Amino acid sequence: MKFFIDTANLNEIREAQDLGVLDGVTTNPSLMAKEGITGEEHILKHYKDICDIVDDSVSAEVIATDFAAMVSEGKALAEIDDKIVVKIPMIKDGVKAITALSAEGIRTNCTLIFNAGQALLAAKAGASYVSPFIGRLDDICSDGLVLIEQIVSIYDNYAYETEVLAASVRHSMHLIQCAEIGADIATCPLSVITALLKHPLTDSGLEKFLADHKKGNK
Ligand code: E4P
Repeated sequence: MKFFIDTANLNEIREAQDLGVLDGVTTNPSLMAKEGITGEEHILKHYKDICDIVDDSVSAEVIATDFAAMVSEGKALAEIDDKIVVKIPMIKDGVKAITALSAEGIRTNCTLIFNAGQALLAAKAGASYVSPFIGRLDDICSDGLVLIEQIVSIYDNYAYETEVLAASVRHSMHLIQCAEIGADIATCPLSVITALLKHPLTDSGLEKFLADHKKGNK
């Protein structure tokens, strides 16, 4: 399973990249605003800065919501760098924009997916990735992981090339369960990736190994 980091914070992206396990980055307008990135020029420059840190796949979301504007904004984003994947919301004009951008060879990530029908539509439109938001479904007492299972199974039935990008991943068990189900990618905050490192028996075991080594070398 590929690991993407879900942030616009350059330090966190660098830290994940330095760990050597990072496959890409997802951002959204809220994450960009959280970092104080505003204004078209500043936003485009920030995407370029992210692209310069990672090896591939930086999802940059369009703000436009009508077909023509989404396509033109998507093309402008794609021109920043070959690593850019244009993130488009699951709305009617969004589906049309995914079809148009895909036909031109521009990679797209269909975002704000909350049911299997939306995921099917995105795949048929030719989206490179589909982003089901599992944490937000859990928040409203709906099982986000069941949706990942449904999408993985539907895409397998028809060999769709669209990759399942589990989004709104909130904790390490989400990540592990997404891997068990067979999601292609999971995107999450840095803290969820680093939580995978932790086990008290690892810490106490290492402490004892080092103490024994010290004793033996006295
Ligand atoms: C996906 O690409 C979104 O940026 C993200 O995963 C949303 O997560 P949240 O529900 O924690 O805001």
